[in-house]
Amino acid sequence: DSPSMIKKCLFPAAGYGTRFLPATKAMPKEMLPIVNKPLIQYGVEEAIEAGLTDIGVISGRGKRAIEDHFDISYELEHQIAGTSKEILLDDIRDVISQCTFSYTRQVEMKGLGHAILTGEPLVGDNPFAVLLADDFCTNGTGVLKQMVSLFNEYQCSIVAIEEVPRDQTRNYGVIEGTEIQDGLFKISNMVEKPAPEDAPTNLAIIGRYILTPDIFDIIRNVAPGAGGEIQITDAINEQCKNRMVLGYKFKGRRFDCGSLDGFVEATNYVYGKMNK
Ligand code: G1P
Repeated sequence: DSPSMIKKCLFPAAGYGTRFLPATKAMPKEMLPIVNKPLIQYGVEEAIEAGLTDIGVISGRGKRAIEDHFDISYELEHQIAGTSKEILLDDIRDVISQCTFSYTRQVEMKGLGHAILTGEPLVGDNPFAVLLADDFCTNGTGVLKQMVSLFNEYQCSIVAIEEVPRDQTRNYGVIEGTEIQDGLFKISNMVEKPAPEDAPTNLAIIGRYILTPDIFDIIRNVAPGAGGEIQITDAINEQCKNRMVLGYKFKGRRFDCGSLDGFVEATNYVYGKMNK
């Protein structure tokens, strides 16, 4: 392995998922299933496809089901061994056998930047990916795999972007930059959750990042931003003033599974594509 190869992927998963209450009262939102697979498992499978098998979960109170999910359940295995149901565990068994899982807890909810900083001990001085499981991406090559091949070429931080309707910029980090090749932007500025009239473009960040480890020192020094939270967008904005940072219009389809509408759309989409 060359030192700049990425093996690690962080999964911030400490948020409360209040939009899905009461479903998320005692269950982590990352465990909400799209048909029969939890959101976070889709995310881990996307990481594996990209060659990222060191999985780091930024966990929080009430999230133990995530750890249990990525572990063997002996009782269950025993129960269904030799039955037709066994095949239903094939995917998760594959995931467990290919990855190592590390967990750390974010004790206070101080924003996505703070969550990522909490993951520093799991990442060390290495470039790493971040995947927000409620941005569910599907259709063709996984977004992280697309981004890792770009990283291998450019060796810099990269954020996935997508065009959104102007009136939705308030829900996203928004980038500004110059298009250096089709769908690839050299970022000059980033703003977290701007009002439509303040948004520099309609190019929104979606929950896939590759970050170089100098980001940790930047996060440590960044002031609270939108919503009083430590924003990763503000830290990357700082980073792009000194080093190249890329915005990449990924190929594929993304569903905002942090919203009820997006969640239902994703469910219908995946169900429609299943072999039944
Ligand atoms: C976070 C980021 C935002 C990004 C979004 C993608 O916001 O802060 O920059 O556009 O994820 O889903 P959140 O959705 O957690 O409010």
